[in-house]
Amino acid sequence: MIFTAAVLTISDRASAGIYEDKSGKLLEKELRDFGIEPVKYEIIPDDFEKIKEKLIEYSNESISLVITSGGTGLSKRDNTPEASLAVFDKRVPGIGEAMRKESAKITPRAYLSRAEAGIRKDTLIINFPGSTKACKENFEIIKAFLIHGLETIAGIDKHNK
Ligand code: MTE
Repeated sequence: MIFTAAVLTISDRASAGIYEDKSGKLLEKELRDFGIEPVKYEIIPDDFEKIKEKLIEYSNESISLVITSGGTGLSKRDNTPEASLAVFDKRVPGIGEAMRKESAKITPRAYLSRAEAGIRKDTLIINFPGSTKACKENFEIIKAFLIHGLETIAGIDKHNK
C-alpha cells in the first residue's frame, strides 16, 4: 500500500518569507526516500485557527500522514500542540514520548518540545520541532514504528494471530 503525506511548516517567519523553509523540504525528501508520497506541502503562520483548519482539511482528504514542523516549544506563539489536540479523535502519546526520549540522547533541549501525535479520521498527525536538525533526527526515530502505525489506521492487520 502506498501511503501519502502532507508536510505543514508552521512558522510566522518562514510564512512571511523572512527565511527559507529548509525543514519542510527536508521532510519531503525524507518521506519520499522512505517510500511515503508527499502530496501536500504548505507553510503557514503560528496561528491556532489556521493550524486547526489545515489539519482538518488534510484529514478530510484522507492523507495517511501529516507531519507538522515547528511551534512545539515554549514561546507565546507556539500553538501547534494545542491546535493539534483540538482536532484529534485519539491521542497517540507514545510517539511524542519516543521522540523526546530518543532525542534527549542528542540534546537535553528535546524535553522542551511539547510535540503531540494523534489520529483524526484515517490520518496520523505528528508534530515535529522546527529546526532541520530536529526534523532529521525525529524522522529517524519514528521510522521504527511509522509503517506499522499507518497500516493499523488503514485497517491492515499484520499482527501474528
Ligand atoms: N529534538 C531533536 N531531536 N533535536 C533538536 O535539536 N531541539 C529542541 C527540541 N527538540 C531539538 C529537538 C529545541 S532547542 C526546542 S526549543 C524544541 O524542540 C522546540 O522546537 P520548536 O519550537 O521549533 O518546535
